[in-house]
Amino acid sequence: MEIRKATVHDVETMQQLIQHFADAGLMLPRSYRSLYEHLQCFYVAEDHGTVVGTGGLHVLWKDLAEIRSLAVHPSCHGQGVGRRLVQALIREAEQLGISQVLSLTYQTRFFDKLGFQVVQKETLPHKIWKDCIYCKKFQQCDEIAMVYYTQVGVHVVSESVARI
Ligand SMILES: CC(C)(COP(=O)(O)OP(=O)(O)OC[C@H]1O[C@@H](n2cnc3c(N)ncnc32)[C@H](O)[C@@H]1OP(=O)(O)O)[C@@H](O)C(=O)NCCC(=O)NCCS
Repeated sequence: MEIRKATVHDVETMQQLIQHFADAGLMLPRSYRSLYEHLQCFYVAEDHGTVVGTGGLHVLWKDLAEIRSLAVHPSCHGQGVGRRLVQALIREAEQLGISQVLSLTYQTRFFDKLGFQVVQKETLPHKIWKDCIYCKKFQQCDEIAMVYYTQVGVHVVSESVARI
């Protein structure tokens, strides 16, 4: 299993993976256009030449980035693929000097295992909701906001997010 940066050759499989879970209401859909435009944000998990997982890191502000479109093929759940993708995204955030990594999610136990903490959505900066207008649940969002405080954040006082 290799975790690596995504290339244009991965986009079709990435889109199918994300769409599978978007159809189930677990994440926002991503168009091909959006994936190509944000390709540099994305990692994939490749197993024997097949892309089995993907996830992107979107920088929102100087101290905040968001994990988006994290998806692992159902046949590979529970094998550590999601963990390795999230760890790669956290490393990327740290290399960029970002102190907090956000996820808006229903998978609270998964993110809890990876060291994320629940935060109040009301404390998040307004700019993070920009893409939510594309979501069917825009008016009644029930996702949980969780934040990971990176090594960069050890000595930084949070500007964007207040812990519960
Ligand atoms: C959430 C998701 C990415 C997890 O990927 P995964 O590869 O199955 O997770 P991992 O095998 O790396 O799991 C890491 C740990 O979290 C636990 N875990 C994973 N999913 C879990 C769940 N739904 N509930 C409880 N624990 C879970 C695993 O048991 C493992 O625990 P361990 O360290 O004690 O063994 C995957 O289930 C998925 O693609 N879900 C659908 C799309 C989705 O909801 N994405 C998240 C959008 S924010």
